[in-house]
Amino acid sequence: MKKVLFVCLGNICRSPAAEAIMKKICDQRGLSQEILIDSAGTSGYHVGEPADARMRQQAQKSGYEVTSISRRFVKSDFKNFDYIVAMDDANYDEIISKDPEEIFRHKIYKMATFCKKFPVSEIPDPYYGGENGFQQVIDILEDGCVNFLEEIVLTELKSSK
Ligand code: 4NP
Repeated sequence: MKKVLFVCLGNICRSPAAEAIMKKICDQRGLSQEILIDSAGTSGYHVGEPADARMRQQAQKSGYEVTSISRRFVKSDFKNFDYIVAMDDANYDEIISKDPEEIFRHKIYKMATFCKKFPVSEIPDPYYGGENGFQQVIDILEDGCVNFLEEIVLTELKSSK
């Protein structure tokens, strides 16, 4: 079993979409029992809220159910997850700052590292933009999720068997 946590700022747009996309990819590949997926936000702005309605609607058009309820990233996530995947550099820096002794540094990734079709340096924040921004984020995350799964999670799952 491998555990993946996607992290953005509010946990209502990008990381819930990444969670839904990754869950669907894992379902399609028969990996749901082997890979646990969750998401969180570095801020507490939207704790307890469902994902942004614009993201839920846009994701649904692409066949994804975004069902997560916003929660804040907590220090115990370092222990409970194998991979912590940040959506942008600010999220990454915030996560890194909670691990000053670098005990969990090896678990922390940037999603953009895995985006190849769309070579971005960060997953753009769609919160203040138009509808296009939400679809763009979904397209970028589909790319990143597949590559992250294949390059990191599946490689390590196989070598731990
Ligand atoms: P997310 O987007 O980090 O992808 O969930 C945002 C959601 C809310 C805010 C900013 C970004 N906000 O400022 O409330």
